[in-house]
Amino acid sequence: MRGNTLRGTALSPTDAGTSPRSRRAATVALEHVSKRFGDHVEDQPAVDDLDLFIPAGATCVLVGPSGCGKTTTLRMVNRLIEPSGGRILIDGEPIAGRDPTELRRGIGYVIQQVGLFPHQTIAENVEVVPRLLGWPAARRRERVEELLRLVGLDPARHLRRYPAELSGGERQRVGVARALAADPPLLLMDEPFGAVDPIVRARLQEELLRLQRELGKTILFVTHDIDEAILMGDLVAVMRQGGTLAQFAPPAELLAHPASDFVARFVGADRALKRLTLRRVGELAPAPVTIAVAGEPLGAARARGGPGAPGHLLLVDHEGRALGWVDARGLPDDRPADPTTARPPAPLLEAETTLRDALSILLDAAGSPGIVVDDTGRPTGLLTVEAITAALQDGNGPGGTGEDAPPPAGSRPTGG
Ligand SMILES: Nc1ncnc2c1ncn2[C@@H]1O[C@H](COP(=O)(O)OP(=O)(O)O)[C@@H](O)[C@H]1O
Ligand SMILES: [Mg+2]
Repeated sequence: MRGNTLRGTALSPTDAGTSPRSRRAATVALEHVSKRFGDHVEDQPAVDDLDLFIPAGATCVLVGPSGCGKTTTLRMVNRLIEPSGGRILIDGEPIAGRDPTELRRGIGYVIQQVGLFPHQTIAENVEVVPRLLGWPAARRRERVEELLRLVGLDPARHLRRYPAELSGGERQRVGVARALAADPPLLLMDEPFGAVDPIVRARLQEELLRLQRELGKTILFVTHDIDEAILMGDLVAVMRQGGTLAQFAPPAELLAHPASDFVARFVGADRALKRLTLRRVGELAPAPVTIAVAGEPLGAARARGGPGAPGHLLLVDHEGRALGWVDARGLPDDRPADPTTARPPAPLLEAETTLRDALSILLDAAGSPGIVVDDTGRPTGLLTVEAITAALQDGNGPGGTGEDAPPPAGSRPTGG
């Protein structure tokens, strides 16, 4: 699971609203679940003996080629489809014994074409479930405004509009707001971003990740896109034709150790690079760098660097922010570190940068090590291509702190 921090949850606590996160997420268990649409035993099942357990607060992505049974699986969880065999439990309770309408009120459902009612305003669309639950109008209105803000829409602009007046991305946000209206402990999302263009999709994905960090719902998310699965999932269930489970694992495990040729082919030949998208610069211990404060004698900086201090010093201003590289080779100790001779401190890398992005930045920089900076722009050390390669080789996925990665060799600027 991602390191969820619940800071100032965006939903105000109301009696049917958000209570502490631990109580607002459900576990989901599928036990030997099968679905056969035809009456004939020789028909290939849509879903075949599926076993999954999703812990509370996790995002589980079902991914696989078209027709492998993803939608059928999802729709069995809210009983739009009944299984032919096996059972499904939410919070340990079999759903077969529950009233389907009541069950669905506790499950948010987001689908690709959103399914907004075209002749109702955005406000009316979002408050469908609260209306069914009999909330008074004032409370519904308050909730709708809160939800629209939560999904990044301005209530003043959108409340009274109709779905046709919104862009695809905005409609998709309304769909998410509607699914969250009654604060359900479980969200089912079936290719929710499948119909929007790649740029809008990337933004919606980031927004859902941010939202999920705040809300900590249990999410069952269907996609046919492996990159989306790796980005969104704490757990990824790879399904294959015939509705069988090919592998169920966290994304890093899937990329590092695909369980079969089918999974290896499905995740793609570039799975090593994909693994780099799961890790961030801040996870690796940066190599030390010798810093000189602008104006101080070079000898003072060299003394700080110790006997092995490199010929190139990283010049910083009096606030500690990187100004540039100074080539101090051959210069006397009493010469002040001179900002006018500094070469730009490129490339700068932030802790949040993915290792994949860092790698392309470093490859672009023709061998210069990256300067890792904290969120105030102060350098904390250096990162090289070699360090990233080493991190890739340790292969154990997230949680790998990179602390045992060897320090990068020759982490000194090569000039340019
Ligand atoms: N209502 C239905 N009646 C008959 N067959 C169906 C029905 N719904 C889905 N199927 C079949 O079940 C299989 C799985 O479908 P589906 O769950 O929609 O796959 P996915 O969402 O992974 O693309 C497919 O072969 C599909 O044709
Ligand atoms: Mg589908």
